[in-house]
Amino acid sequence: MKIVLGVGGGIAAYKAAELSRALMERDFEVQVVMTHAAEEFIRPLTFAALTNRKVITDLFASRSGEEVLASSVEHIRVARENQMLVVAPATADLLARFAHGLANDFLSTLYLAFTGKVILAPAMNTEMWNHAATRANVETLVGRGNIVLPPAEGSLACGEVGAGRLPDPVWIADAVQSLAAARHDMDGETVLVTAGPTQEPIDPVRYLTNRSSGKMGYAIAAAAAERGARVVLVSGPVNLPEPFGVQVVRVRSAVEMRNAVMAKLPESTIIVKAAAVADYHVANPPKQKIKKTPARLSLELDPTPDILAEVGRNKGDRLLIGFAAETTALVEEARRKMASKNADMVVANLVNQEGTGFESDENEVTLVMRTGEAVQVPRASKKIVAGRIFDQALKLRLALHALHDA
Ligand code: PMT
Repeated sequence: MKIVLGVGGGIAAYKAAELSRALMERDFEVQVVMTHAAEEFIRPLTFAALTNRKVITDLFASRSGEEVLASSVEHIRVARENQMLVVAPATADLLARFAHGLANDFLSTLYLAFTGKVILAPAMNTEMWNHAATRANVETLVGRGNIVLPPAEGSLACGEVGAGRLPDPVWIADAVQSLAAARHDMDGETVLVTAGPTQEPIDPVRYLTNRSSGKMGYAIAAAAAERGARVVLVSGPVNLPEPFGVQVVRVRSAVEMRNAVMAKLPESTIIVKAAAVADYHVANPPKQKIKKTPARLSLELDPTPDILAEVGRNKGDRLLIGFAAETTALVEEARRKMASKNADMVVANLVNQEGTGFESDENEVTLVMRTGEAVQVPRASKKIVAGRIFDQALKLRLALHALHDA
């Protein structure tokens, strides 16, 4: 896909170089357009070298006769040749000019002529971001269908701390990729996803946990958002960037996860329980650190709430998808769990084979369904596996409705 990367004149302009590379790594063809202010922060040559393409900076760049004519309509050519316009950093000035239809340089002229998807990544001082004028401009732009990526929080170039940082370029590139791939076969769905491990305190210092990285659940949440669903991701402690367009609710223990899931259940239409929830916990951990002694330490563990089973008891006509992490008898165990928890589908994966299951970037699963079907999904990235889960889930729901109506 061909996209224009508009670079505004903010200190974060240097990050646009990494963003251009990240976009090209995702097979986008990138045409860079810079404002004159951006040239004060980074030279066009940097982008020309990275994108292997002329960088556009001036509305009337050319000097000779026929070139002047060509350049005077170049913004129209660029607008028609590209499917997406990404502006990063989108300065307060650019947001204001876009919102008020000013077209006094190449980028703002291009913006007015552009008919494809527009993604704006604002970056500025926190006070500027919070200023009523900027808020009004953002509201206007969102109201016209522009996608405004939320600035990140953190330390700013001016030394202050707060909202206004340009998000990580890789995160922006992932968001662009997600928006470029956007389908709409899950418009109107509200998908509740759990991901990651839980942490069960033994004392104020120690806890029980497992090897879940959250990658499978985060890929599922991203896949649903990409297809138009509203997504709520209840996540145990993981070290992953929040998927674009997904509301993340962070929890630690199985009890906290259970409370968050049950609170979000009423508004959900599809539930996917990919989290590796601890089966046992110390019901009342001591308030003080357990002192080390030469004697053996025994822990008394109680079962944690079985969230999948509780959701199954309150499922209604929602679609409930559980997981099964097994080391043997995969499909049999998955069928047993599906029946006992009233799930409509169980995603079964072996967690004792190299390169799939916990922590890996890939997975290999068997989708066991209430209709009796079992569909093999061969080893692939967790993103692809997540897409296949929803492909099957949407078919399954149609089949279950047909069975119900028959
Ligand atoms: O996070 P990654 O590193 O990407 O690894 C992915 C994964 C291996 C964690 C994932 O693919 C997976 O298998 N998740 C389920 C792990 C698990 O807890 O499986 P289980 O067979 O122990 O539990 C069965 C189902 O019951 C799961 O849907 C689980 O979320 C749910 N459960 C379990 C215990 C509990 N107290 N409440 C639950 O809801």
